[in-house]
Amino acid sequence: MASKIRKSVLVSLSSHQDVYLSGQQLADEAGCSRTAIWKHIEELRNEGFTIESRRKKGYRLVGRSDQLTENDILLGLETKTFGRNVVYFDSVDSTQKIAHQLAQDQAPEGTLVIAEEQKTGRGRMARAWYSPSGTGIWMSVLLRPTLPPQKAPQFTLITAVAVVQAIQDVCDIQVEIKWPNDILVNNRKITGILTELQADSEQIHSLIIGIGMNVNQQTDDFPEELLDIATSLSIAKGEIISRAKVVQHVMFHLERYYKIYMEKGFAPIKLLWESYALSIGKHITARTMNGTLTGIALGITDEGVLLLEDENGTIHQIYSADIEW
Ligand code: BTN
Repeated sequence: MASKIRKSVLVSLSSHQDVYLSGQQLADEAGCSRTAIWKHIEELRNEGFTIESRRKKGYRLVGRSDQLTENDILLGLETKTFGRNVVYFDSVDSTQKIAHQLAQDQAPEGTLVIAEEQKTGRGRMARAWYSPSGTGIWMSVLLRPTLPPQKAPQFTLITAVAVVQAIQDVCDIQVEIKWPNDILVNNRKITGILTELQADSEQIHSLIIGIGMNVNQQTDDFPEELLDIATSLSIAKGEIISRAKVVQHVMFHLERYYKIYMEKGFAPIKLLWESYALSIGKHITARTMNGTLTGIALGITDEGVLLLEDENGTIHQIYSADIEW
């Protein structure tokens, strides 16, 4: 956890990017001694912030490296609660697993668990999720909506809309959603979403939304088996992308759409989701646990369930599947 003093120093330096602030000024703003400021400046440098110091002038924030520590995320975050409590790991088995534990330990809503690397990242349908160090975003957000458990799948769709808008804000590239949880660029996956819950038959106790985003991988960074199906924001945009900025924008839109959803229901989100969805109106193949169905994807229900009309005109409700077209 970053200390209050370190946060205060960062906020002061970043709000005066072009001027030097003296140690005394920083100390006054943080309510500590000048010696403490010196120590915290060193800590911030270790976290990847480039801070210039000049004798008789003081300190100036020059830049930051592409890291995802608590301070990297907090600096520039425009939310009330989402992502305000950050639990960061250099390496972890799965952020989902940690978030489940934190949910039981009464961590606040909006808690963000994020890791530079996951050893056993997990995807949908018990698949492994490749989560190497340094290039992606592997994070889980803890929510506590007072809703029945049948509503949980809608959160995958709310999250997909938030991620699409965050990508558009930061990268300005065209992305599309493939039901239920894939975000694609040029038909290749850049983001997967995994919604898990702790609930009884009546009510959700906590929702854990896992988001895996390929951000700065280059083609050589993907293992052979993913080369044809995955890509990254950096490949699509042709430049290195700030991961912290992407996280901040995802948190911002997720908080916004969560609020809209809790106040107005699923209808406004559904409209947006359908406007980004690739598969609607297409002839698709859906591979479910119980077999394969083919037909036209008509749309989604208010519960986020996919409607598929087969060649006999029968409409099937699909809760979970891999789809192709
Ligand atoms: C999928 O498309 O199958 C969903 C992938 C979800 C991956 C993310 S990465 C962060 C979080 N921790 C995990 O172990 N999984 C999710």
